[in-house]
Amino acid sequence: MCGIFGYVGPRRAAGPMILDALKRLEYRGYDSWGVAVGIDGHVGLSKRAGRIGDAVVDLPDACIGFGHTRWATHGGVSDVNAHPHLDCTGRFAVIHNGIIENFRTLRSRLESRGHVFRSETDTEVVSHLIEETVGASSEPCTVVEAVRQVFAMLRGLNAVIVLDTVTQQLVAAKNVSPLVVGRGEDAAYIASDAVALVGHAREVHYVEDREIVALGPDGVQFYDSATGAPRAAAFVPLTLREADMSLNGFDHYLIKEIHEQPRVLRRIAENYAEPVHHLAELISEAYGSFLIGCGTSSYAALTGSYLFSRIARRHVNFAVGSEFKYQEHFLTDRSLVIALSQSGETADIIDAVMAAKRAGARVAALVNVPGSTLDRLADFSIHLGAGPEQSVLSTKSYTAKVAILMLTAHVLNGSEHVGREHLWRAVDGVEQALAPASVQRIQEIAAYMADKEHCFVIGRGLSYPTALEAALKIKEISYIHAEGFAGGELKHGVIALVEEGTPCLVFSPIDETRDDILSGAMELRSRGGFIVGISPEPEEVFDIHLPVADVGDASPLVGVIPAQLLGYYLALRRGLDPDKPRNLAKSVTVK
Ligand code: G6P
Repeated sequence: MCGIFGYVGPRRAAGPMILDALKRLEYRGYDSWGVAVGIDGHVGLSKRAGRIGDAVVDLPDACIGFGHTRWATHGGVSDVNAHPHLDCTGRFAVIHNGIIENFRTLRSRLESRGHVFRSETDTEVVSHLIEETVGASSEPCTVVEAVRQVFAMLRGLNAVIVLDTVTQQLVAAKNVSPLVVGRGEDAAYIASDAVALVGHAREVHYVEDREIVALGPDGVQFYDSATGAPRAAAFVPLTLREADMSLNGFDHYLIKEIHEQPRVLRRIAENYAEPVHHLAELISEAYGSFLIGCGTSSYAALTGSYLFSRIARRHVNFAVGSEFKYQEHFLTDRSLVIALSQSGETADIIDAVMAAKRAGARVAALVNVPGSTLDRLADFSIHLGAGPEQSVLSTKSYTAKVAILMLTAHVLNGSEHVGREHLWRAVDGVEQALAPASVQRIQEIAAYMADKEHCFVIGRGLSYPTALEAALKIKEISYIHAEGFAGGELKHGVIALVEEGTPCLVFSPIDETRDDILSGAMELRSRGGFIVGISPEPEEVFDIHLPVADVGDASPLVGVIPAQLLGYYLALRRGLDPDKPRNLAKSVTVK
């Protein structure tokens, strides 16, 4: 959470350029934004609560500066709590991503020594600590050394950047929270995410936890965070392209990314034999495998658990990322943890993976962002290759993960050709679900549902996680209360909430769940529920039928598409921003 972008180079108008780059990082948080530039020993600052929108910064010309988009943790959403935060003298500015767990102790010590705090944030302690460390030393202390000493005082998963307006340097340190340094023609950059560097940097270096990085008039230098000694760092070419980042004629990233799914799935069907075989091998060698993920990735993981049981007759455990620590005692050096994450930065996943590694377990990752923390921690990674996912809602990375798990289950079962055939059918099925006639149907349902308060979604077996994901897609973007259930659980409580006209989505693929799920639909209808059936065939119990292709084990791939579209069109109907739902962020780097 929180987007970070810093620049050092010849450009005099650094402020507007930084603000522009921050727009690409807003999916990491959009509670407030701020930009600071360094001018001859003092900071030029512009910051405000709310989204960047059409904001402009009125800052003096400068060749160094940085900016931040915030997802609030400590301190409410206000102008004053927006980053950057200054020290008492105004020489230093600080931006930060993470939570400084011991900030209360640090703050009260600083206050007792006379420092005046302007904000309620944990971040501001860093500015005052840097001021003290640079100023109080009997020997001259460089800002690099000050950052090294101060960062060692902070507890938690953090990334911090200090702007020193006297030395004209940006100095950064991190613990787990991501930072990437970029080098361009004659300038250097630092950001929380490589997407912000597209169009600026040619090569990048993913900062390690043991490094301190300094960007200044002499270029980029790296130091060892334990000893302060200079160290070397390797850069790799930045492969993301400007075209991957654009809307390509769509109105929003969400709808663009939904429509990209046939291409993403096709690529997996054509190219992923080798990594899928390797993952299958790891599972068959392991004594106990666990699929973990958070949010949408958790539903992909749960789908995986069903797929392995159904296709490969293997028990692969499932746990929500943040709950996994309560099962960690099962881990041994023969365990395999398969971590699913679009961003590769979700703190609960990183935490779980680090614990798994401490227990000697092997870690495999299904991750969309190459170079991300998870990608670097894992013993083996499958890159989803879905391209940048910029809408906060996860869509194409979800279907990519499910497709890869489905193929892996078939490889384990010795029926790879069947898996591939189902996946190809799903590619066509997803295309059909995105065709204008299907979209129009969804728009009609969105019109019916737009003023409803509740919606229920049911599925059984393989469609149960699809129901959970469908409900998530609807609620996180339209703010309609949508709940997904295992169809059999309806009568154990939920049915009490169904009234005349309550929309109920029912997943009914042609599989072993069909009869039972249709009885559930009947029970809902008898209580007034308005039944939207997502199924290859029409059924009498449906008030509206959304036809989807019959694609065998790949049914979750086609089933989820109408729900993604429904979320999108509900958001439009209700006048909401489909790419930036309230209170959410794309990359959740705090626990
Ligand atoms: C956030 C996003 C969700 C996403 C979840 C897990 O909550 O809003 O869309 O599913 O994080 O993210 P990951 O990057 O680990 O898949």
